[in-house]
Amino acid sequence: MKQIAILGSGRVGSALAKALTRAGHHVTFGSRDPEAAKAKWQGPDVQFTTIEQALQMAQVVFNATPGAGSLELLIPLQAVLAGKILVDVANATTRNPDGSPGPLMYPQDSLAERLQQALPQTFVVKSLNTLLSPVMEDPTILKGAATVFLSGDNKEAKREVHALLVSTRWPEAAILDLGGIQSARGTEALMAIVPFLVKSQGFKPFALSATY
Ligand SMILES: NC(=O)c1ccc[n+]([C@@H]2O[C@H](COP(=O)([O-])OP(=O)(O)OC[C@H]3O[C@@H](n4cnc5c(N)ncnc54)[C@H](OP(=O)(O)O)[C@@H]3O)[C@@H](O)[C@H]2O)c1
Repeated sequence: MKQIAILGSGRVGSALAKALTRAGHHVTFGSRDPEAAKAKWQGPDVQFTTIEQALQMAQVVFNATPGAGSLELLIPLQAVLAGKILVDVANATTRNPDGSPGPLMYPQDSLAERLQQALPQTFVVKSLNTLLSPVMEDPTILKGAATVFLSGDNKEAKREVHALLVSTRWPEAAILDLGGIQSARGTEALMAIVPFLVKSQGFKPFALSATY
């Protein structure tokens, strides 16, 4: 059982909270407005507190906040994030006029690399950003073979995240370690396909996959 902090109580944060609680972990949301987030929560028993307090209690932190503001949000929290695993689920894109994800904010590298560089004492692992939030809540809803990618410089941190994924119903065979944090530029760039996927297939749960 891990003490988990989830930053952001939107679609991704909620899906992860449900999956992780079901797996027996203790989840605390770090929210900009914990009372408002708690009032709208419909799900299992989880805690709501400020971002700073949630981080203090956590062994593993999930970043489920808008990628466009994640650096601004997380860099000032460097001290409290030191020594912790930060699972970065965010995609840093601009927005198209219809609200769908637009061009990448960091096309030369990636949000995850920038987070790792700015937070050298934190173990950043990029994961789960290439699939829709209902799949995070329950990967078994997909009919076909799915992939969940891992990118990170620290092998032990990736082992911990791998174990968390397995605890939330990801089959071992679906988990693909892409290598160091630089490999997150690949999975972040995959976001370019999302508006086209949604336009052609409708808004259905998906996971991008690498099949061999
Ligand atoms: N939706 C998906 O299926 C999906 C899939 C893969 C990756 N992602 C990525 O995961 C992240 C979260 O996506 P989401 O769909 O969960 O977004 P969302 O529903 O809009 O939720 C984002 C949450 O982040 C918090 N937040 C912190 N700073 C914020 C700010 N400046 N503006 C707005 N919200 C802020 C809010 O929670 P509090 O009010 O509690 O602070 C908000 O509920 C994004 O980076 C997205 O690209 C999404």
